[in-house]
Amino acid sequence: MNTEVEPVHIGQEDDIDVGSVENFEHEEIDYAIFRLESGFFAIQGHCHCEDQAFLSESNVEGEELECASCGNTYSIVSGDPISDLELPSLKMYDIIEEEGEIYLNL
Ligand code: FES
Repeated sequence: MNTEVEPVHIGQEDDIDVGSVENFEHEEIDYAIFRLESGFFAIQGHCHCEDQAFLSESNVEGEELECASCGNTYSIVSGDPISDLELPSLKMYDIIEEEGEIYLNL
């Protein structure tokens, strides 16, 4: 039995500008797809707080994201909290880049 999950096609690399983030929805789950100088990063689409803020609406500062709703900051590379170390880390997902296309590896 093949239990491997196929990577999900997100779009083309050029769809996301360097230093920005886009929301990507798959099977009613949101993901925040970041493009930095160092590559693509996928993070859970909403923060852990009650607000469930869209992380795709956050501000990107270098390798950090600043939540648009509360101002807390996290590492885009590791998902770890920066401004408030009591916060849980954000869940990260693998991105596959192939011939100008990007895929989410769930
Ligand atoms: S509202 Fe949850 S991290 Fe900002």
